Amino acid sequence: MLQADYALRNYNAFGFDVHARIGGLIRSETALAKLRTDKCIASMPRIVLGAGSNIVFTRDFDGLALVIDLRGKRIVSQTDDAYIVEGAAGERWHDFVYWTLQQGMPGLENLALIPGTVGAAPVQNIGAYGLELVERFERLRAFDMIDGRIVELNVQECAFGYRDSIFKNAARGQLIILSVIFRLPKRWYARDSYADITSRLAMNKISEPTAQQIFDVVTAIRREKLPDPAVLGNVGSFFKNPIVSAEYFAALQAKEPDIVFYAQCDSRVKLSAGWMIDQCGWKERSIGGAAVHKSQALVLVNRGGATGEQVLELAQVIRADVRQRFGVELDIEPLVV
Ligand code: EPU
Repeated sequence: MLQADYALRNYNAFGFDVHARIGGLIRSETALAKLRTDKCIASMPRIVLGAGSNIVFTRDFDGLALVIDLRGKRIVSQTDDAYIVEGAAGERWHDFVYWTLQQGMPGLENLALIPGTVGAAPVQNIGAYGLELVERFERLRAFDMIDGRIVELNVQECAFGYRDSIFKNAARGQLIILSVIFRLPKRWYARDSYADITSRLAMNKISEPTAQQIFDVVTAIRREKLPDPAVLGNVGSFFKNPIVSAEYFAALQAKEPDIVFYAQCDSRVKLSAGWMIDQCGWKERSIGGAAVHKSQALVLVNRGGATGEQVLELAQVIRADVRQRFGVELDIEPLVV
């Protein structure tokens, strides 16, 4: 099942040609339990991959790489106000979203076409076009590599934040997500207030969109703005949108009246990193094979032959420019290994 010098090229969305000391596909929950009993393997540094949609390898990985390939999706139950559905960690996220709509259970459509797997979705609490995973999350099942038990975590225990969760922090490498359970409300209403969605619905003369129409619109916007990792290696947004205090924002807006921002419920303000990078003139600029995407400056791409080091070098010069002009730090969003 495990192979030495395991090629990770197909398991990282930048398409870097890196290897792990040892690695393999995990196709059953019992396979994980078996791995734990091998002392040598269990003590190695470990990384858990789905489709590798949110990871940047800067070198070979001197440890164990587990590619989670658990499959299956099912309707668990329904209550008066919700459908409860479960997807195994290795299912493609987009296929899962599509399947829920086919079952007549809307609620995930704003998250259509996000690359990656169901199991990776809670790790960074994926979000797009006015919806975050946390809003539809019920609980998840995970395998604890320390004590070998299967545990269930609810929404509080996952400690979700903006592109963040316990799986990026305290539980990293320890809890391996097996499946994710969602709560899809029966009283559905369209989440259609994100600017890109509103304008495209208007363009298509749709005033009361169905879930399928939201799905189609989101899919079309993503296809237009975001590069397909199968064609042009990338991990989606490379930076988080920074959040600043109301005071800082007021001073910044006085200097930069066109700045794109989103007011937060706690009076702080989220700034658009993509807009700031774009304003600094970075679109389409490159270092080696690493470049800023032509239609979304928040996305760094591998034009071919790039290395993780080049991508990080590009990220550092972008951060320096944004720091100098806007006085804010951009945090890198994917995991850097
Ligand atoms: N903008 C520019 N130039 C650019 C990029 C953006 O002017 O090069 C402007 C846009 O015109 C728009 C604003 O900035 O006014 C925001 O752009 P967009 O709607 O594309 O969203 P974003 O804030 O850049 C976030 C998420 C994306 C998600 C979109 C849509 C983060 C880090 N990124 O990007 O998520 O798809 O909103 O909801 O929060 C991801 O996490 O990998 C990801 C792609």
